[in-house]
Amino acid sequence: MSPRGIANPSGRHAVYCLGVLASGGGTNLQAILDRTASGRLPARVGVVIGNNSRSGALVRARRAGVPAIHLSGRTHPQPGALDRAIAETLRFHGVNLVVLAGYMKKLGPATLAMHRNRIVNIHPALLPAFGGRGMYGDRVHEAVVQSGAQVSGATVHLVDEEYDTGPIILQRRIRVAPDDTPDSLARRVLAVEHELYPEAIRLFAEGRIRIDGRKVEILD
Ligand code: GAR
Repeated sequence: MSPRGIANPSGRHAVYCLGVLASGGGTNLQAILDRTASGRLPARVGVVIGNNSRSGALVRARRAGVPAIHLSGRTHPQPGALDRAIAETLRFHGVNLVVLAGYMKKLGPATLAMHRNRIVNIHPALLPAFGGRGMYGDRVHEAVVQSGAQVSGATVHLVDEEYDTGPIILQRRIRVAPDDTPDSLARRVLAVEHELYPEAIRLFAEGRIRIDGRKVEILD
C-alpha cells in the first residue's frame, strides 16, 4: 500500500510527517531517522522537540538536519504555555503522527486534543505490566528483574491522559534470562524497540491503523 500523506498547498502529495519528542539519548529517534533516510520507513521526521537542551536526541536531530527545538519548563515556566507551544510547534511543522521516544514528561491537554489518536509512545516492558507513574527507563528493567518475571519486551501504544494506559498497537516479547541484570535486559529490550517502533510507525504511515474508541485494528 502506498504511504498516505497530506496534500500540501502546492497540490503535491506530502510525505507522512513525524514529530518526535525525546528527553534522553535518542537511540529510538536514531533508529527512526536511519530508516526514513534509507527509505525503509515511508515517512520523514519533520521536527524533534526535547525538554533537555543538552540531550543526545537534540544532537542527533541537528546532525540529521532536522529542526531540533528545546521546549521545557525553562523556556516556558507556565505549564499551559508550554503545552500550547508544543502543540503549535507540531502543527506548524505539519506533523501527522507524534512519536514519544523516551519522552519523560506528560503531555498537556492542548497537545492531546490537537493530536488525539495520533500520538504514540514506546515503553520498555509488556504493558500493562511494569507501567504507570514512575515506571520509566532503567527503573522498569530493575522492577522486571526484581520480580523474577521470565518474559519482558516492548510495547507501542497510543497516548491518552494517563501514564501508559492507552490502547496497545504492537508488542514484542523476549525471554528474561536467569542471569540477566537490569543493564543486560535493557540492552536487549532497546534492540527490540529499534525494530518495533519503526514497524508500528509504518502501519500509521500506510494508513493501516483503524481506531474505534479503545479498539485498535491493524488492516492488511
Ligand atoms: C527507551 O527504552 C524507552 O522505551 C524508554 O526510555 C528509553 C529511551 O531510550 N521510555 C520509557 O521508559 C517511557 N515510559 P532512547 O532515548 O535511547 O530512545
